[in-house]
Amino acid sequence: MADDPFLQFAPEDTEVRPNAEASRLLMGGPVVLVTTTWRGTPNVMPLSWYTPLSSDPALIGISVEQSRHTAEMISHSQEFALNFPKRPYVHHVQYLGGLSGEGIDKFEATQWSTFTPTSITSPLLAGCAGWIECQVVEVTPLGDHVLFVGEVVAVRIDPASYDEDLRQWRFGEQDDRVLHFLGGNRYSSLYHAIEARLPRDFEAPERILRERVEEELELSREARERREERVEALREEVRRGNVVDVDDLELDLADDDVLDLSKGAILRPPEEPEAPERD
Ligand SMILES: Cc1cc2nc3c(=O)[nH]c(=O)nc-3n(C[C@H](O)[C@H](O)[C@H](O)COP(=O)(O)O)c2cc1C
Repeated sequence: MADDPFLQFAPEDTEVRPNAEASRLLMGGPVVLVTTTWRGTPNVMPLSWYTPLSSDPALIGISVEQSRHTAEMISHSQEFALNFPKRPYVHHVQYLGGLSGEGIDKFEATQWSTFTPTSITSPLLAGCAGWIECQVVEVTPLGDHVLFVGEVVAVRIDPASYDEDLRQWRFGEQDDRVLHFLGGNRYSSLYHAIEARLPRDFEAPERILRERVEEELELSREARERREERVEALREEVRRGNVVDVDDLELDLADDDVLDLSKGAILRPPEEPEAPERD
């Protein structure tokens, strides 16, 4: 084994952070290496299915397929650590995803140096961008996976990779950036951030809304013009003394519509005579 995982001090250039910082380390979806220990033997596996679940207490969920040796180890040890590998470890990450710790000592295979965790026993991998130590508080089988809910008990970061003021991963030196898993054997790393601001006039959703309203107005203008044309045609018919059926024209006459009916008539059903009032 490269180093005794239980006897190494944390690298001096790393920093302890509050447990609440854990969810910030998971922002942006970097791939993690889950380390575990059971019966004095450590193991490590890459994992991309995780999620922050609560900020107070800080809880994280990791979804591990039932067949993984890691699933069995965590079920027994009730703890795990998330290590955030930096870009140069991309090939190691992929390699570790193809080996089962059931039959092989992956630390031996990769010669990855480790150091001692703060609050659990699973070793932490040296040269990573950040580390989260978790104590398991809930285990839920979900389909072919097991959801382990871990309460964060310690967080450590490498300031070269993580900006403590912004509380975000940095886009500094390429080799200090975290890795993002795209699927298959492809990975990427973030290279710049886009800062959100208030939308400008031409980008605002209100603009779209205004355009829609204008369209509607345009339509109702057309409808009004058509209606005026019809009313004019109706007037003409009435002027000629013809009988006109307004219902046929689908003309929606308002109460204050003025029609000169002196030379014609509008056909409507006869009104019901009002019943005489009784004393
Ligand atoms: C980038 C990457 C992400 C992975 N994510 C997961 C995951 O979220 N859950 C899982 O069960 N396996 C995942 N795997 C597969 C395991 O890491 C792989 O099966 C590993 O060999 C299991 O090791 P173990 O049997 O020693 O636990 C991933 C593999 C890679 C390469």
